[in-house]
Amino acid sequence: MELEGKRIVLGVTGSVAAYKAAALLRLLAGAGATARVVMTDAATRFVGPATFAALSGKPVLTDMWAADSPMAHIDLTRAADAILVAPATADFIARLAQGRADDLLAALSLARDCPLLVAPAMNRQMWENPATRRNLEILRQDGITCLGPAAGVQACGEEGEGRMLEPEALLEALCAFFTPKSLAGKKVLLTAGPTFEAIDPVRGLTNLSSGCMGYAVARAAAQAGAEVTLVSGPVARPAPMQVLRIFVQSALEMRAAVLQRAAEADIFIAVAAVADYRAEQVAPQKLKKSAGVPPEIRLVQNPDILAEVAALPRPPFCVGFAAESEHLEDYAQQKRVRKNIPLIVGNLIQEGFGGETNRVILFDDAGGHPLPAAPKTQIARQLMAHILALMEKK
Ligand code: PMT
Repeated sequence: MELEGKRIVLGVTGSVAAYKAAALLRLLAGAGATARVVMTDAATRFVGPATFAALSGKPVLTDMWAADSPMAHIDLTRAADAILVAPATADFIARLAQGRADDLLAALSLARDCPLLVAPAMNRQMWENPATRRNLEILRQDGITCLGPAAGVQACGEEGEGRMLEPEALLEALCAFFTPKSLAGKKVLLTAGPTFEAIDPVRGLTNLSSGCMGYAVARAAAQAGAEVTLVSGPVARPAPMQVLRIFVQSALEMRAAVLQRAAEADIFIAVAAVADYRAEQVAPQKLKKSAGVPPEIRLVQNPDILAEVAALPRPPFCVGFAAESEHLEDYAQQKRVRKNIPLIVGNLIQEGFGGETNRVILFDDAGGHPLPAAPKTQIARQLMAHILALMEKK
């Protein structure tokens, strides 16, 4: 529950995207936040307050004069960790820029004692209009965070920038917003997922790594303010927000992509399950069943990317992963010593591969530090905190 205990005022203004605010409200609740919804009069013409009241479990505030407290515009923000206005129309952004207080949402935004974030939603011409650009610049100068917008087909049928970010992206942005920027100014390079070692044009050697663990670590590093590059084997999952992803297939491609960037990195985290072997020769044509004689595939060893990075003249802080089926502590520590790295994350194959949860032990010079079984997203955050603590000790 990444937003556990967070209290959000969700402002909704008059846009077709108001219906997406209902989905966002559900996501906020699922992430552990409590939300109080405040709608402008125009917003109620798109979605009825009853929808938001049912989803938030609290009455929706729409009118300054009918509010349950005579000081609603003050009280609401004093009890909030953030105000998120999603969707935020061009008109509402203009009112914010002018410091107007002509309805409850504008008044509480002006009277706020907590961060304010806006997720613009408007037609592309309205978004590109110099007046809107000016107003957004004022919002930035006033310390208001602007999330999005995205580009794409708009409700009016035109195509361009101005679509409100999807509810999932807004939730991600909010989680990142609340994460302390402990890695600001650091460059983090990661590998994740499996590699695929071709045998012929359609077949290859690979493994069951889903990329979940590596992508979670990349996400945690980006949320903590790092500049993150993720060299990923073939997996079907979206890149985390603010992460530069480079897709590769084979161990050799992964090695090339990593070595090109390793000298600039402050931290290198090798989460990928890299194939130890590849076919010496990749058949140029599909291998055929010839008279029932199985083809002979000669394997050669792949280079060890992590060990190579750790052996650079000025290596980044190197972190490895070790997935073992037995003797986790012995094998993981042996790998740490052999690869000459300060930290290795041990996990059991049956717990680490696939799935959304994991149980790991962090092995460093001080010994093993077991973490309780948890979602990979949580383990990733704990791992980044451990890395930072070790780097500060150096
Ligand atoms: O992707 P998921 O489904 O979420 O699964 C996550 C995971 C189980 C794959 C992950 O948690 C994990 O344990 N990754 C490492 C798998 C492993 O056992 O790697 P290894 O023992 O082959 O290698 C040890 C370390 O050296 C790893 O950091 C690996 O990335 C690195 N290595 C290995 C071989 C090689 N040629 N180059 C490398 O850089």
